[in-house]
Amino acid sequence: MPQATFTFPAGFLWGAATSSHQVEGNNRNNDWWAWEEQPGRIIHAHRSGLACDWWGGRWREDFDRARETGQNAHRLSVEWSRIQPAPDRWDEDALERYRAMLRGLYERGMTPMVTLHHFANPLWVAERGGWENDETPVLFAAFVQKTVEALQEYCTMWITINEPNVYTFMSYVSGLFPPGKTDLRAGMKVYANLLKGHVLAYRIIHNLQREARVGVAHASRPIIPAGPLTWLDSIPANITNSFFNEAFPKALMTGKLQVLNFSAHVPEAIGTQDFFGVNYYTQELVKFDLTRASDAFGRRFYPKDAELSTTGFIAHQPEGFFKVLKWAKGFGLPVIVTENGVEDADDHLRPRYLVEHLHQVWRAVNFNWPIKGYFHWSLVDNFEWERGWTQRFGLWGLDVDTQQRIRRPSVDLYAAICKQNGISSEMVEKYAPGSLLKLFPPA
Ligand code: BGC
Repeated sequence: MPQATFTFPAGFLWGAATSSHQVEGNNRNNDWWAWEEQPGRIIHAHRSGLACDWWGGRWREDFDRARETGQNAHRLSVEWSRIQPAPDRWDEDALERYRAMLRGLYERGMTPMVTLHHFANPLWVAERGGWENDETPVLFAAFVQKTVEALQEYCTMWITINEPNVYTFMSYVSGLFPPGKTDLRAGMKVYANLLKGHVLAYRIIHNLQREARVGVAHASRPIIPAGPLTWLDSIPANITNSFFNEAFPKALMTGKLQVLNFSAHVPEAIGTQDFFGVNYYTQELVKFDLTRASDAFGRRFYPKDAELSTTGFIAHQPEGFFKVLKWAKGFGLPVIVTENGVEDADDHLRPRYLVEHLHQVWRAVNFNWPIKGYFHWSLVDNFEWERGWTQRFGLWGLDVDTQQRIRRPSVDLYAAICKQNGISSEMVEKYAPGSLLKLFPPA
């Protein structure tokens, strides 16, 4: 068997990604907490509850875990509803806690990346119409100003908005996220307002901090015509790709957010991205289906032979990751993988998923594409939105009742990769033998 190591560039960022509502616990003042209280919204009536108890201080032990296992970076989000619990009130204690968390990363030699909006809104913002309200970008900008002023001592890498496409789709098209609307018109307004909020935040951050690098975490999920009638299947594929994958990043280049016959002109958006954040989990096939008007006349599905995650949510499709990285580098910016991972409670797929996806990153790096880091989703199992606790994305498992962390084999695999800044054939043989021949084929 050939022995080799796929080495990554010096200074590559290796970390995990988390978000406030999913890990902090007791986030009672936002629209998600209220949503969880409504019957039927969350599978099995699960609740975020204490989550991973980071607000109670368990971030310390989890950051220790990350550092001890070789991670040199961490992406977390701050909770708008904690920092600004009411329109006329700032909570300095909450800001102090976030400062302590970022200092905690700093002291552990880890580079922080902070997300300013990750799906949840303060209740008072939601009550005013959320992102449908044209004032919300300005309210968000005031929150960003206050937060970045307080945290800039410890952070220079910022994500303004996590997955504007997923937020818009889930909250205003499928209705699975609050406010639960199925109203494309409202969705388009929200999409445009998220863009405006991003632009204001971008400028504010740069005014405060010259060395700042600011981006968006773009959810990227290729939709591929299934064929054999490819021309027909291309109709739903093109519509969905344009709405979901392309509209927002293109608007950051052209100043125009365009989806079908909807367009919003935001010329100030041009060039408001210092790096391209990629969230990649999987890709899908689509077939034209006349009965599915609300799905752009498409039925989406995974290839029959694809290996699926525990609940069937994600198909293992590493080749889609390479395509996405190629597309992302076309924007002419450094690329950072801001999320990638799989729900896999018993860790039977994650080791292979991890090495095969990182192999695609390594291939990309070898074309000299400027990929600067990788954040795995996630460090510890956390509250998975409308899917509650049924999906387990953590390197570490979590016993929600006892707060006990469970070390999955993937922890040691990822630690070996981070520490060596590379993937060796020995590691793959030990932790993901099923991927050995694929990654290191015999000559
Ligand atoms: C989101 C995360 C989420 C993950 C897995 C991404 O869309 O940014 O918040 O937990 O997917 O479902």
